[in-house]
Amino acid sequence: MASDLAQSARRIAADVEALTGARYTLPGPGITRYAYTDAYEATLDYFRSAFEALGFEVWSDPVGTLVASNVAPGERAFGFGSHCDSNRNGGAWDGTLGVVSALEACRIAGDSLPLRVISFLEEEASGFGQMLLGSRIVLGAVSDEELASYEDEHRVPFLEAAERAGYRPHDHARAGEILDGLVGWIELHIEQGRVLQDTGARLGVVDAIAGYVHADLSVHGRADHAGATPMDFRSDAGLTAAEAVVELERIVRSHSPDTVGTVGALTLGPGIINVIAGAADMTLDIRSVSGDHEKVYAALADFVRRRAEARGQRMELRERNRVASTPMDPHVVEALERAAQISGAPWRRMASGAAHDTQMVARRIPSAMLFVPCRDGISHAPEESADPADAALGVQVMLAAARELLSD
Ligand code: GLV
Ligand code: MN
Ligand code: MN
Repeated sequence: MASDLAQSARRIAADVEALTGARYTLPGPGITRYAYTDAYEATLDYFRSAFEALGFEVWSDPVGTLVASNVAPGERAFGFGSHCDSNRNGGAWDGTLGVVSALEACRIAGDSLPLRVISFLEEEASGFGQMLLGSRIVLGAVSDEELASYEDEHRVPFLEAAERAGYRPHDHARAGEILDGLVGWIELHIEQGRVLQDTGARLGVVDAIAGYVHADLSVHGRADHAGATPMDFRSDAGLTAAEAVVELERIVRSHSPDTVGTVGALTLGPGIINVIAGAADMTLDIRSVSGDHEKVYAALADFVRRRAEARGQRMELRERNRVASTPMDPHVVEALERAAQISGAPWRRMASGAAHDTQMVARRIPSAMLFVPCRDGISHAPEESADPADAALGVQVMLAAARELLSD
C-alpha cells in the first residue's frame, strides 16, 4: 500500500510538472492558460493522449469541455474531474490537480469501475471574464444572448473564439449530455486556504461551497481641472469609488463571518495626474456560504447609488453572474468521510470559500469535493504548491468513496 501511494504520488508529480512546460502556458510568471489559447489546447491534448493510452474514449462538449470515459457516453458511471485553465499568472495546481488526480484514479481503477472524467472549460474567468463558464453552460444556466455577449480582452467574441478552436458553440444546449448517467461526482482540489495546513489535516471533506456575486460597478462623475476646480465644485467619481471600497469592508464585517467581499480591480478615468476622475470602474466579488453575500451586494449597491446621487453622479451596476451557495450531497460527503477515516490520515470536514465547477454539477448529480493542503494556503499565484503525497492519498480516498457509491 505504501509503495502504491509512493508510485501514485510520483505519477501525479510528473503530470503536474509536465504541465508547467513552456507549451502549456502563455509567457509570464507562473501559469497562464485560458480557454482556446494554444497553451490550453495543448493541455487538453496532453490529457486526451493520456486517457486514450488507458483505452478511454475521449470527446468534447459543444464548447470544448473535455470528457473521457471507459464506458459509452450516457452510460452509468462515476464522475471525477475539475478544470485545467488557470488564472493569469496563476499556479500549477489549481484545477489541474483535479484533472491529474482523476487521470491517476483511472490508471489505478482500470476497468474495475465505470468512470467518466470531465475537465470543464474556463472555470477561472480569465479568458472571457465569466467564472464557472463551462460548467454553467453544461447546466444550461447561460442563455444564447449571454453567450453572444461575452468577449475576451481583445474583444474577440466567445462564439467566434470557440468556433475558431473547432467547437460548435451554437449547440451549447446539448452540453448537459455529458452528465447523463453519472451516479455521483467528486472533484479533488487544493484547499486554496491554510486551514488544513494549520490544523495538521491532510484531507478536507467539503460539505458546502460558498455562493458569489460577480459584478462591475461604474460611477460617472465629471472630469475637471485638478487645480482650477475648488473642492465644492467637483463631481469626483474617485471619491465615491473610495467610499464604496471602504463601505464594502464595513458591510461585509457586519454579516456572518463566512462572508467576504473584494474589489480586485479599480480604475479611474481619464487617469491623469492633474485631472479629477470623471469615471471610476471597479469589480465586485462578494461571497458567502450562509447566503449573506446577497444582502451585502444589495446594501452596497444602495449605498453607492445614494453617495453617487449626493455628489451629482450616476452609478451603473452590471452583474456578470451569480451562483447560490451550494450544499454538497450528504451521501457523497459521508462516503468520503468513511474512506478518509479508513485511510488513517488526519482529515476534517470544511466548507469551500472558493468557487468550483462542482457547485454547478451538484445541481444535477450527487456531488462533493475533497481538498488537499496547499503550502501556506497560497493560490492564484505562481508560488502555489502542494504535496503530491497528499494528492495520492486523496485519489485513494476518492476511489474508495466512488466504489462504495457505485455499489449502492
Ligand atoms: C475560482 O477560482 C474562484 O475565484 O473561486
Ligand atoms: Mn479551481
Ligand atoms: Mn481558481
